[in-house]
Amino acid sequence: MTLAIIGTGNMAKGLATVFAGNDIVFGSRNPSDTALSIADAVAKADIVFLAVPYDAAADVVAAANGFAGKIVVDLTNPMKADFSGLAIGFSTSAAEEIARLAPQAKVVKGFNTLFASVLQNGGKAAGTPATVLLAGDDADAVAEVEALVNAAGLKAIVAGPLAASRNIEAVAALNIGLGYGQGKGTDIAPTWVGI
Ligand SMILES: NC(=O)c1ccc[n+]([C@@H]2O[C@H](COP(=O)([O-])OP(=O)(O)OC[C@H]3O[C@@H](n4cnc5c(N)ncnc54)[C@H](OP(=O)(O)O)[C@@H]3O)[C@@H](O)[C@H]2O)c1
Repeated sequence: MTLAIIGTGNMAKGLATVFAGNDIVFGSRNPSDTALSIADAVAKADIVFLAVPYDAAADVVAAANGFAGKIVVDLTNPMKADFSGLAIGFSTSAAEEIARLAPQAKVVKGFNTLFASVLQNGGKAAGTPATVLLAGDDADAVAEVEALVNAAGLKAIVAGPLAASRNIEAVAALNIGLGYGQGKGTDIAPTWVGI
């Protein structure tokens, strides 16, 4: 299983930590010794992780030739510039908009409710394996990501079809509000008991 991480920033580093047991390639708009071009990274991948700003998604979809046939895990949070809340959300979500941009991709929402530092700490918040909320319209793609998450020692919870990303992105906004607005810090993560 080869994973392509698009982006080389904080979330990309965190994913690389969590998935250290897998083959990983990075894709970047600025290829280097450690990162391929976006198109080359995607071509090698079974699963692609989109670890770029939401506003960069259209650029990346174009660079990836539409991600045709690939599972694309969308980590983005479409926050307002001042992080006071989501810029979109009642009638669509970042994940649904990315699926519209890349109709041949199998888009799965995930990891956006976790701070990068939680991933960089091996997927643990306050010492506890973190929960990854997932959503997607392709049941096989969701099941593949669910298995990957659980194998990495985190806890996957499938929330439903891709439109459930509206709620998952709202949970992420709440998490950011607690971590920064309410000063709880970034060693926190949302989960559900009873599942
Ligand atoms: N940080 C968190 O705690 C956190 C938590 C949950 C979700 N997220 C989401 O995860 C995503 C990544 O966040 P991050 O904190 O990892 O950001 P980051 O550290 O700023 O890294 C962003 C990456 O995206 C790349 N990028 C930016 N614009 C691009 C474009 N037009 N085309 C191609 N690549 C582009 C950057 O490339 P260059 O190096 O070339 O600039 C960089 O590698 C965001 O959507 C964010 O909302 C973040």
